Parts: sequence; C-alpha cells; structure tokens
Amino acid sequence: MPKFKKAKTICITSTKGGVGKTTVTLNLAAVYSLLNKKVLIIDLDLYSGGIALSLNANIDKTVFNVVDDMMNNRFRSILDYTTKYNENIDIIPSPKDPRQAMKIESKYIDLLLYNAEIKYDVILIDTTHVLNHLNLTIMDRSYNNLFIITNDAVALKNTKSLIAIFNDNLIDNYKILYNESIDIFRNYFSLFDMKSIIKANIDYTLSKNFYTKSIDNYLIAGKIPFLDTKFQKTHKKDLENLKNMANDLIADTKKKKVKDNV
Ligand SMILES: Nc1ncnc2c1ncn2[C@@H]1O[C@H](COP(=O)(O)OP(=O)(O)OP(=O)(O)O)[C@@H](O)[C@H]1O
Ligand SMILES: [Mg+2]
Repeated sequence: MPKFKKAKTICITSTKGGVGKTTVTLNLAAVYSLLNKKVLIIDLDLYSGGIALSLNANIDKTVFNVVDDMMNNRFRSILDYTTKYNENIDIIPSPKDPRQAMKIESKYIDLLLYNAEIKYDVILIDTTHVLNHLNLTIMDRSYNNLFIITNDAVALKNTKSLIAIFNDNLIDNYKILYNESIDIFRNYFSLFDMKSIIKANIDYTLSKNFYTKSIDNYLIAGKIPFLDTKFQKTHKKDLENLKNMANDLIADTKKKKVKDNV
C-alpha cells in the first residue's frame, strides 16, 4: 500500500433509524473495492454498531482503542487498529462494550481521520441517526455526507430540518439517497412529493430490486451482496447505479468548479 494518500471521507447518515445506513455502507465499500479503491469502514454507531458482525470479522481492536491510545499518548499508526476484510477493505469496528462508547470524545475524530486519510482512498463512516455532537463533528469533517431517506413521513420531515441547517450554514457537501429497497410496499409519497417535503433534490435511488430476502444469509456468512458474483449478475443495473453513485460521492467538486469557471 503506498504510504501517502488523501482519502475522501464519506459520512453515511439519516434522521431516522433502520433506513439502510449499515447495508448501504457495506455495499458501497464493496463497490469501491470493485473499483480498486482502498477502503476503510469506520463504525461510529458507537452503541449498536453492526459492521464487524455483518462481516463476520474476528476483531481485536476497536475505535475505542484508537481513541484511548490517543488520549494516553500510546497511539502510533492507524494500521495497528484496522482489521482486514479483503484485499481492498479494512474496518475499524465500534466498541465491544457500550461503557467504552461513552468515553469516546468527538474531539479525537479529527485526529483519527487525519491519520486514516493518508492510508486509504475512501473512508466510509457508518453512524447513528441521532444528531449529537459526535455526528455533527463527523458531518463537518467529512468530504461528503450521504443522507438516506425512505418513503416515510417522519424520515422526510426530519431530513427537511437537517437539510435546512446545512443550507443555513451554506454547506453543500451532501447528497440524498432514496432507499426504496428497505420497505418495498411503502410508496405513499411520489418522488415529486418527497423532493417538495425535504426541499432538496434526490440524487440517487436504490431501487426495489435491491430488496434481498436472503440478506441474513449474507450477514451470517459475513458476505456483502455486491461482492457475490451471482448477486452482481442478477443486479446488474443496481450495481451500475451504485458504481455511479460511488464515483460521484468522491468526485473532485472543488477542482471541477474551478475548471467550469475557466
Ligand atoms: N436491500 C435490503 N433487503 C432486505 N433487507 C434489508 C435491505 N436493506 C436493509 N435491510 C434490512 O433492514 C434492516 C435495517 O437496515 P440497516 O441495519 O442497514 O439500517 P440502519 O439505518 O443502519 O439501521 P440503524 O439505524 O439501526 O443503524 C436490517 O435488518 C437490514 O438487514
Ligand atoms: Mg446501522
């Protein structure tokens, strides 16, 4: 692995639980891995993280150890804390014990990411839906924020408030993913309705086709659907869409804006 990179950090978040953040994080990591990018997944859903479990990973160190060692001047390299999943994907899981989660202060996130960004191409952060200091710090520090919405009045109403906060602060580094696959029978609001409610564009859609009845089989086996060649063949269009989304999320917008102005 080359020594100095500058990863693009993507925060995957939402304003309601159970909308598919963890599933999207895992499958997005799979797609970056297929695109030959070195990916680090950091599980900052501190109290109920599911990344290590979903990947059946045999873990030693967690994000608690990173922060604890930073606090006590023992931290040397981020690679001392990562667990390898495959050639391209590493993870830093959430704490094993919820009492450790309480000790993680958001002020260490910047240092953690600073150290990780020089080793990877992409960093994916799985979060909770709670708008606490930790999540605000992650959002502020990330290159891009991916907000996941579903066809749900509460999710839409709260997403509208979050987007309004971003807009009030002139922050535009966010994208919105409509996850149709989570609750395939829920379709009360049209795309037009949803855009009107959240007062923003919907950048991507994860279609109903991605609904996977056997998703728990993947979880038990520690596999990611989009790394399974059979799944790739039966979900060609979804894979294509996810690849486009993956590339778009890390696109060099600053450079592009400069180019457009020339
Ligand atoms: N495409 C899919 N097909 C079938 N089940 C899915 C799909 N996507 C997600 N699920 C299931 O829906 C549930 C919620 O998904 P997930 O855990 O990814 O959401 P989350 O936003 O991370 O939840 P939380 O807020 O609790 O962290 C899980 O049980 C997951 O296995
Ligand atoms: Mg989750």
